[in-house]
Formats: sequence, structure tokens, C-alpha cells
Amino acid sequence: MVRSTLLGVGSHVPERVVTNDDLARLMTTSDEWIYQRSGIRERRFIERSGVGASDLGLPASRAAIADAGLRPEDIDAIVFATLSPDYFFPGSGCLLGDKLGLNGKPAIDIRNQCTGFLYALSVADGWIRTGLYRHVLVVGAEVHSTGLEFNDRGRDVAVLFGDGAGAVVMGPTADERRGLQSLCLHADGSGVKDLWCEGPASAYDPRVDEAMLAAGRHYPKMVGKHVFRWAIEKMPEVAIEAVERAGITLADVDLFIPHQANMRINQLVAARLELPDEKVVHNIEQFGNTTAATIPMALDRARREGRVKPDATLLFAAFGAGYTWGGAVLRL
Ligand code: ACO
Repeated sequence: MVRSTLLGVGSHVPERVVTNDDLARLMTTSDEWIYQRSGIRERRFIERSGVGASDLGLPASRAAIADAGLRPEDIDAIVFATLSPDYFFPGSGCLLGDKLGLNGKPAIDIRNQCTGFLYALSVADGWIRTGLYRHVLVVGAEVHSTGLEFNDRGRDVAVLFGDGAGAVVMGPTADERRGLQSLCLHADGSGVKDLWCEGPASAYDPRVDEAMLAAGRHYPKMVGKHVFRWAIEKMPEVAIEAVERAGITLADVDLFIPHQANMRINQLVAARLELPDEKVVHNIEQFGNTTAATIPMALDRARREGRVKPDATLLFAAFGAGYTWGGAVLRL
């Protein structure tokens, strides 16, 4: 049986560092409030208008392709996960394909927010296992900073998010012990309005108007306590599901790489899974929540720090808007 496995990984963040104190100059907040509730100290924002998710995805993709020992032309397909695509349409995957010189190669966008990377991975996994495509580039990239409201009305959301990108190259392996051992995905639309960006919306005619803009309905809105409660229930649940489906136990997990939404969420999830801190990857302190990019960014960082051993068993779990959630076990 063919499985899909990780061939290369890369990441990229803009150079501009924005600290909690920088945000406190724009809204009534403080480093203490943000750090205590989220674990975030700073995040990266793009330096100028005109840089989209595909632009951040480009260097991350190049790094992942080089890490895989491949050239861009060896990539057979792109799966691009983002909630902040460069444009309403066409998708950022098409833009990235053009920037990589992959004109003619298929590209698909995945719009599953913080679970986007795992949904994207499932598409790559299916394509590879059926033999449709061999080398699939999976990208998670976000430019949040142009879509946040930097004032007191938007402060609950604005302090949490950052810009960044991560990418992996997936390819086939005939070694059943390697590669994706399980992938579990879920969605429940009953929580749509707990975390959403309402406009512009095709459900409205016109899609956006002065009243919507004045009310800030084109900025993300969140019922933070609801999101928190759902996340700490669903992330451990799906992590256990992924582990069981892979036929292993939590004790077999070498490294847990959760979506980086909030340090408190991830500490509670790790505690419920009884995973010690040395087996858990956190990078939210420096980058905030980069949504579809968090898992590949954290994987890349952990590997650079020497925390990802050859043959390691990795556990991923994510939860986000939709609601959507997912888990996966990957053996290197
Ligand atoms: N700075 C200072 N005060 C703020 C800020 C801010 N940035 N934002 C909100 N407040 C105020 C509120 O106005 C409110 O004031 P009030 O009590 O006078 O009305 C008060 O702080 C709320 O404080 P808490 O109840 O202590 O807030 P809470 O503990 O719920 O923390 C938080 C808020 C951090 C958003 C929390 O609910 C949370 O982490 N939720 C999960 C959300 C999340 O992680 N989303 C990420 C996207 S989804 C995902 O990736 C899973």
C-alpha cells in the first residue's frame, strides 16, 4: 500500500515585528493582558500593502521544495490553505503556481481556517495514494494584518493574529510504517457566528455597504469564550481519535504539534492528553495565531531546533472557525 509522507518543510514570516506594546499604542490593551490570556508577546506583520498570502507562501514553498531535494518543476500539484486569500477570487494556489513557474499544474484552495492545513494535507494524501499526483506542495499562509480592526472595538481579535506561511512537500512511500498513519476531520456549522467575518458577502446585495463598514462587519468577530470551550473539548478528542486510528497510543507520540491559537488552550489540551511539555511544540509567543500556517511553521521551527528526530511519530491537532477540527499522525 502506498502512503503519503513528508519530503520537505519550509516557512517564512515577514521581518516586521509587532509587539504587544506596539498594539497598546493603538487600542486600550497591555502586554500583561495579552500575554496572560494568550501567551503571545509579538507577531509579524507584512511591511507594506501589496503583499498577499501567496507572496508569503512563495519563500516558504521554495524552502520546502529545496528541503525535499526537488526543483519547483518537480511539483505536480498545489494545495493552498488560507482564510485570507490574496483576492476574493481566483484562489491563492493559482497565484502561487504562477510565481513558482508551475503554469499548467493544478492548484486548489482550501478555506478551512485554523484546520485548513490538515484539510489540505488530506487532499494531498488522497491524490498521492490514488496515484493521481506524486509530489504535492501543501501550503498554509495568512496575511491577517490587513483585515484586523486596530482599535478598542476590535481589540479582542486584533491582538491574537499574525502573518506567516508554512509549506510541506508530500510524496509517496511504499514503506507502510512511514507517512500519514491517520487523518481525522470534522466540521460543525452550528458555531459559524462564534468566529466569522461577515462581509463582503454574496448572501447580501450589495455585498458590502456603508452601514456594514460603519458597524465593522467586514472585520472578524469572535465569541472568545465559546471558541475556547469548543477548542479544549474538540482538540483532545480528535487527537485521541487520530492516535487510535493510527493504531498507536499517546505514549508512542514523540512530538505533539497543535495549532497555535492560544497558549492556554494548548496547555490544557496537552494536560488532558497527559503529554509532557518537552513533547509539545509552542511558538505562539513569537508569531501569534497564523491560522492555516501554524502547524507547518511550528514543524519547521521544531526541526531546526533539533526536536524532530528521524523516524519520529508526530501528532497534529487543530481547531478553528466553522467550526472545523482535525487530527493526524505522521511518522517520518
Ligand atoms: N485588551 C484588554 N482588554 C480586552 C481585550 C484586549 N485586547 N480584549 C477584550 N478585552 C476585555 C473585554 O472587553 C472584556 O471586558 P469587560 O469584562 O469589561 O467586558 C474583558 O477583556 C474580557 O476579559 P476576559 O473575560 O478575561 O476574557 P477571556 O478570559 O475570555 O479572554 C480571549 C479572551 C483571550 C479571547 C479568550 O476568550 C480566548 O482565548 N478564546 C479563544 C479564542 C481564540 O483562541 N481564538 C483564536 C481563533 S480560533 C482558533 O484558532 C482556535
